[in-house]
Amino acid sequence: MLACFAVIIARGEARGACSDPIDAPAAVQVGDRLFRETRFAQFFFNFITAAPNRNVNTTLKPGDPTVSVEQNAAGKPLRDPFRNQSMNCRNCHLGNDLLGTSRLDGRTYCDFARRSPIPARSDGLSTTPRNAQPMVSVSISRQVPFLFHFDGEFASIEDLTLGTLTGRNFGWLPSEFAQAEAHIINVIKNDNGKNALARRYGCGGFPYSVVLLGTDPKLPKGLVLPPQYRIDLTTASDDAIMQDVGSLILAYMNSIAFNLNEPPSLLRNDLRGGHHWLKVKLIGTKSNRSAIGARVLVRYGKKTQAQALTSQSSFYSSNDPRLHFGLGPETTADIEIHWPNGLRENLKGIAADQLVTIQEGTGVVPSKGWGKRVASAG
Ligand code: HEC
Repeated sequence: MLACFAVIIARGEARGACSDPIDAPAAVQVGDRLFRETRFAQFFFNFITAAPNRNVNTTLKPGDPTVSVEQNAAGKPLRDPFRNQSMNCRNCHLGNDLLGTSRLDGRTYCDFARRSPIPARSDGLSTTPRNAQPMVSVSISRQVPFLFHFDGEFASIEDLTLGTLTGRNFGWLPSEFAQAEAHIINVIKNDNGKNALARRYGCGGFPYSVVLLGTDPKLPKGLVLPPQYRIDLTTASDDAIMQDVGSLILAYMNSIAFNLNEPPSLLRNDLRGGHHWLKVKLIGTKSNRSAIGARVLVRYGKKTQAQALTSQSSFYSSNDPRLHFGLGPETTADIEIHWPNGLRENLKGIAADQLVTIQEGTGVVPSKGWGKRVASAG
C-alpha cells in the first residue's frame, strides 16, 4: 500500500506535481482552448491598438456589445457566457454553457437566434445568413467531399477555421486578411498564459508558446501535445502557425463526434412522470410537403418554446420530424406555425398528450398512425 503511494507521488513530481483538471487528449484540450479564445476578434485588435500601453494580455474593457446577450429561439435575451469579452467560436456554437441558465434553452453546439449576430463594422451587417446549426459529428469522414456552411464555402474544417478566424464572424472585413492573421499570431505568440481561460487547463495556466512547444516538464501530462501538433513559435512561419491552429481545432471537433463506426445507441425512457407533452406533425401544401424550414412556437402556462423543423441534424443524422414539446404541468397549449412560405397560423387551446397533425392552410387534420383524436381545437 505504502509503496504504491510513493510511486504515485514520484510520478506527480516528475510532472511538476499538479493534476490535469480536464480528462481529454492534449490536442483536444488545446483545440478547445482555441475554440473559446476571445482575443482573436477584430474588436480586441482595435482595443489593444487604441492605446500604446496595451498588449494581448490586457483585459478587454468594455466588451463587444455583440456578445453581451444570447437569444433563445423565441428571440428572448439570455445571459451570454462571454459577455464583457469579444467574439469567439463558442459564442455561436455554445457547448453546455446555457444548460444551467434554463433547461429549455439548453441546446448545445448551436445558437438559438434565428441568425447569429456578428460584430458591427462599417458594412452595416449585423448577422450571419443563418444560425449556427448543431455541429456534433460534423467532422465524421464520408465518401463524398466535405462541403461546409451548407453552400460549400469551405472544403475542410481547417479551411473553415482559418477563414472564420480571419473573416466577418470575428469582425474582419474581406480587405483585412493580412491584419487579421498578424493579430491572431500576435495573440498566440505573446499570450502570457495567465488569464482565466488558460488557467482552466491546469497548473496555473501556460502561455500558448509553451503549450505548442510541448516540451516543458511543468506541463500537466494531459497538456503535452503529440509531436505532430508541436510547433516552435520562435522559428515557425505564419502559415505553419495558422495550420497548426486549424489542426488543433479539428482535433477538438473530432472529439464531439458521437457513435463513430459503432452501433447506434438507443435510449429508452421508462420514467413515468405526471407531466404533459405535445407532438406536432406538419404537412406543407404551398410549402414543401415535409414542411422543412418551418418554425413552431408552443405557448403553455407562462412559457414559450420554439423549434425548427430541419432536414438533418449535423451529419448522417436527423431527429424525429414530429416536433416534441414538453409542457410540464400544463394540459393545453397554443401553437403558432411559421410555414416556410411565410404563412403564419395560430391554433389555440390544443389539448396535451397527443400527436397533432397540422396541414398548411387547413389547420388540424386527423393524425394517422399513433395519433389520438384531437380533444379541443379552435
Ligand atoms: C458569428 C457566429 C459564428 C462564429 C463566431 C463561428 N461560427 Fe461556425 N457557424 C456559424 C453559422 C451561422 C454556421 C452555419 C453556416 C452558415 O451560416 O454559414 C456555422 C457553421 C459552422 C460549421 C459547419 C457546420 C456544417 O455542417 O456545415 C463548423 C464546423 C463551424 N461553424 C465551426 C466554427 C469554428 C471552428 C469557429 C471558430 C473559428 C466558428 N465556427 C465560429 C456561426 C459562427
